[in-house]
Amino acid sequence: MCGIIGILGNHEAAPILVDALRRLEYRGYDSAGIATVNGGILDRRRAVGKLVNLADLLVHEPLAGKSGIGHTRWATHGAPSVKNAHPHMTGRVAVVHNGIVENFAELRAELAQNGIGFVTDTDTETIALLAQLHIDQGMAPVEAAKATIDKLHGAFALCFLFEGEEDLIVVARKGSPLAIGHGNGEMFVGSDAIALAPMTDQITYLEEGDWAVLTRTSLEIRDVNNALANREKRTIQIDTAQVEKGGHKHFMSKEIAEQPSVVGNALNHYVRGGAIQLPTELDFTKIERLTMVACGTAYLACLTAKYWFEQIARLPVEVDVASEFRYREPPMTRGTVALFVSQSGETADTLAALRYAKENADQIVSVVNVAESSISREADISLPILAGTEISVASTKGFTCQLTVLLIMALHAAHQRGHLTAEQLAERLDQLHTMPGLMNVALAGSSAVKAVSRKLASATDILFLGRGAMFPLALEGALKLKEISYIHAEGYASGELKHGPIALVDKKTPVIVFAPSDALFDKTISNMQEVMARGGKVLLITDSAGAQQAGEGVWETLILPEVDDALAPLLYAIPAQQIAYHTAIAKGTDVDQPRNLAKSVTVE
Ligand code: F6R
Repeated sequence: MCGIIGILGNHEAAPILVDALRRLEYRGYDSAGIATVNGGILDRRRAVGKLVNLADLLVHEPLAGKSGIGHTRWATHGAPSVKNAHPHMTGRVAVVHNGIVENFAELRAELAQNGIGFVTDTDTETIALLAQLHIDQGMAPVEAAKATIDKLHGAFALCFLFEGEEDLIVVARKGSPLAIGHGNGEMFVGSDAIALAPMTDQITYLEEGDWAVLTRTSLEIRDVNNALANREKRTIQIDTAQVEKGGHKHFMSKEIAEQPSVVGNALNHYVRGGAIQLPTELDFTKIERLTMVACGTAYLACLTAKYWFEQIARLPVEVDVASEFRYREPPMTRGTVALFVSQSGETADTLAALRYAKENADQIVSVVNVAESSISREADISLPILAGTEISVASTKGFTCQLTVLLIMALHAAHQRGHLTAEQLAERLDQLHTMPGLMNVALAGSSAVKAVSRKLASATDILFLGRGAMFPLALEGALKLKEISYIHAEGYASGELKHGPIALVDKKTPVIVFAPSDALFDKTISNMQEVMARGGKVLLITDSAGAQQAGEGVWETLILPEVDDALAPLLYAIPAQQIAYHTAIAKGTDVDQPRNLAKSVTVE
C-alpha cells in the first residue's frame, strides 16, 4: 500500500512523477504528493483524494526541477488530509514512505526530547525529522539517511531527497518492494517496475534490508550488513498495453473479459504435449499434508482448491487466513508442504506467514502473479499464474488463474498419488482445455447479468449460497459485491442457512444461489426452496438442466453452459464478478478504486 517514485532525470520531473504515480495509484489513492529540488531548494505539492486533484493543483501551482520524489497514499497513521499527505518535508529533507514505522512513538519521544515538534499525525514525519536532526548534528545527507534508516523498526520502502542535492536520492527497502530503473544518464526508483515502464526496462530489484545511494550515473547498493551488494540488472518485459483500459470503461471489465485468454495462457504453460509440467521437486508422493495460506480472494481460491486436493488427490489440506496463521502458531509436522497464494506477491500478512512456515514446513511453494515479488522469491518453488498485470483493486482474472494453477496441481497430485490413472488424467485435462471456450460463452451472457444487477442495486443486503466447491464461490461473490458496490453481502454454505442466517431472509433480501446441476444440486435446491418458502427472492445461477429441475417460483435465473463438477468454480466465477461489476455501475461507485481499499496490502 502506498506507491512511491523517485526521479533523477534530464527533463522536468513533475509531469513524469504524476504519470508514474498514475501507474501506482492501485496501491492507494486517498491523497498524493510530489517534491522536487530546484536550484537547490526543496518544494512540494500535495492534494487529498485521487491523483487528478494533484494534477489540477500542479496546473495552478507548477513545480520546477529535474529531481523529485512522489507518493500516492493509503492512510495508516493519520486521516487522509493535505497535512498528512507525503512527501513529508523539513527544511532540508523530503521523504516518501510505503509501510509502517512500528517504533514511531518511541522515535517521536526522542525527537521531542530534542525540542522537535510535529505538525502531522503520521509515522513518516518522524523519518524526515530524524534525518533533519542528524543533518543538524553535522552529518552529510547520505550518512543522515543511513543513521535514520538504522533507527526504524517495521516494514518500509523509503526514498529521501535533500535540499541542495540535485543529483542524489537515498532509498531503503525492508518489507516493501523497490525497483531501481537505469536510464541513459538518468536514474529512477519506484514501488514496482510498471511505474518505471515508460522510462526504462533496465531494472535492479533491491533485496530485503538493502539501502542504496542513487545519482544520475551511479547506483551503490549495500545489504543489511552494510556490505556493498551486487544486484543483477535485468531487462524487464512489460506490456504497456496491460496497464491501459483497451477500450473498456474500467480495468475491472477489461480484466473480466481477459479471462479466457489468460486462463488459456496458464493452461498452455503448465500442460504441454498432453502432460502436466510442474517442477520435479514438487513431489506429491512425499507430501502428507498441505497447508494453504492467503488473504481475501486468494484465500477463497485456496478454500476452493481444498475441495480438489482432498476429493481428487486424497491429500489432507488445511487452509488459513494469513493474518491469523502465524499468531495461531500452528504446529507443522514433517511431510507438510506450505503453499502461499497471492496475486501481488507482496501482501504483508501472507509474506509474514511464509516466513513463519519456513522454519517449520518441509517445503514452501508459492502461487503468485507478480514473478519478481517477495512471496515468489522467498519460496522454494514458485509457480506463476500468468494472469498479466491486474490493475483493478477487485481481483478477477487473478482469482481464475489461481484456480487454474491450483487445479492443475491437484490433478498432478492425484496422478502422482495413484488416484487418477493416466487415462483419467488425460480426460480431466481435455475438459480443462474447454474452459477458455466455456468462459467466452459465460461472458456473452453479460446483458442478462446487467439487467438483473440493476434490480440488485437497490438492495441493502444480499446473501450468496453454494454447496461443495460452490461454497467458497459464494464467499467470493459476496466479497466482490461488498468490495465494489458497498452493499452488505454474506456468503454461506447452503446447508448452513437454516442454522441461523435464514433469519435474515425477507422479501427485500435477494439470495443468489450458485447451483450447477451436479451431485449436490438437489440438496442446494432444497435449501433454495426453504428461502422461497419464507418470501426470499432467489437469483439462481445454474445450467439449462438445473433451471428445468428448479421448478417454479425462482425470481431470476442466469444460465451457464454445462460443465464438469470440478471446473464449475472457474466458470461460475464469471457471473459472480459480473454481478458485482454491474451492480456497482448501477450504484455509481468507483469500480476500479473502491473506497478504503488498495490493491497491494503491504501492511499487517
Ligand atoms: C479482493 C481482493 C483482495 C485480495 C487480497 C490478497 O477482490 O483483491 O481480497 O485478494 O488482498 O491480495 P494478494 O492476492 O495480492 O495477496
